[in-house]
Amino acid sequence: MDSPANRVCVVQQKGGVGKTTVAINTAAALNAAGQDTLLVDLDPQGNATEDVGMPEAYEDEPPTLFDCLTDAEQRDAVTDIIREHEEMDVLPSNIDMTAVEPELTLSRRSGEQLNLLLEYVEDDYDYIIVDCPPQLGNLTDNALFACRHVLIPALAESTSKRAFELLYDHIGALETDYEISIEEVGVAINRIDVRKKQAQEMVDWIEDAYPDTPVWRIRERADIQKSLEAGESLLAYNPESDMCDVFEAIATDVAAHFDEAEVWGDV
Ligand SMILES: Nc1ncnc2c1ncn2[C@@H]1O[C@H](COP(=O)(O)OP(=O)(O)OP(=O)(O)O)[C@@H](O)[C@H]1O
Ligand SMILES: [Mg+2]
Repeated sequence: MDSPANRVCVVQQKGGVGKTTVAINTAAALNAAGQDTLLVDLDPQGNATEDVGMPEAYEDEPPTLFDCLTDAEQRDAVTDIIREHEEMDVLPSNIDMTAVEPELTLSRRSGEQLNLLLEYVEDDYDYIIVDCPPQLGNLTDNALFACRHVLIPALAESTSKRAFELLYDHIGALETDYEISIEEVGVAINRIDVRKKQAQEMVDWIEDAYPDTPVWRIRERADIQKSLEAGESLLAYNPESDMCDVFEAIATDVAAHFDEAEVWGDV
């Protein structure tokens, strides 16, 4: 690769809205389109690590992602920690990550550690997709600072509006603190049940609030959950699923956002 990887973090402080699902499937769709992609599991829960079928990585002995994030001298160990999945490379989380938030708070440049870490590997990839934990804490701030581009999943419920407001307030504060700018790549409304009216209301609200941002609609599908239980993306598990098109659209729009749409001719 001749240029550093484009980076996107999947962020939403609400739990269980589909961050991990969107991160894995977007990474897989990018990879399927010929883009070398690294999935980073920044969540101490390790769901992405488990959902790509690497539960043993979560139990690995040090050095782990924890050491790379909290000890500058161990940062270069990141290249040994990355594992290969058939659909993408993975920087797995680890049980040690449950202690990372307070540890990061103590460190100098606490919000910049992921950025410094990714500098070691970014030349090997076209895209880096970061799955965030469900809190607006230090880890999510590290992801926002390192990626500067956000993809936001949300459920089609009225409480999601409040979640958006809190998230945008948080991003705005971070932009001011660090003097950076953070762009929305798009919003994925997830687990849509077309029988419920709320879903369309939510989509309308998002499209009104963010007219220039792509809004994708992901339906409730048992195969999405089953694919993750099988340790792979929906695209690998059931290429016939109607939702594969949505994940491919997300990947296409991500690429377009970075102005590389011309490499997407065959998607
Ligand atoms: N569209 C969908 N259809 C069916 N199941 C889904 C869909 N999206 C997500 N799921 C399932 O919902 C659960 C929560 O999804 P996911 O883990 O992606 O959310 P999350 O936002 O990452 O959660 P957390 O906040 O805990 O990190 C998972 O079991 C996942 O398989
Ligand atoms: Mg998750």
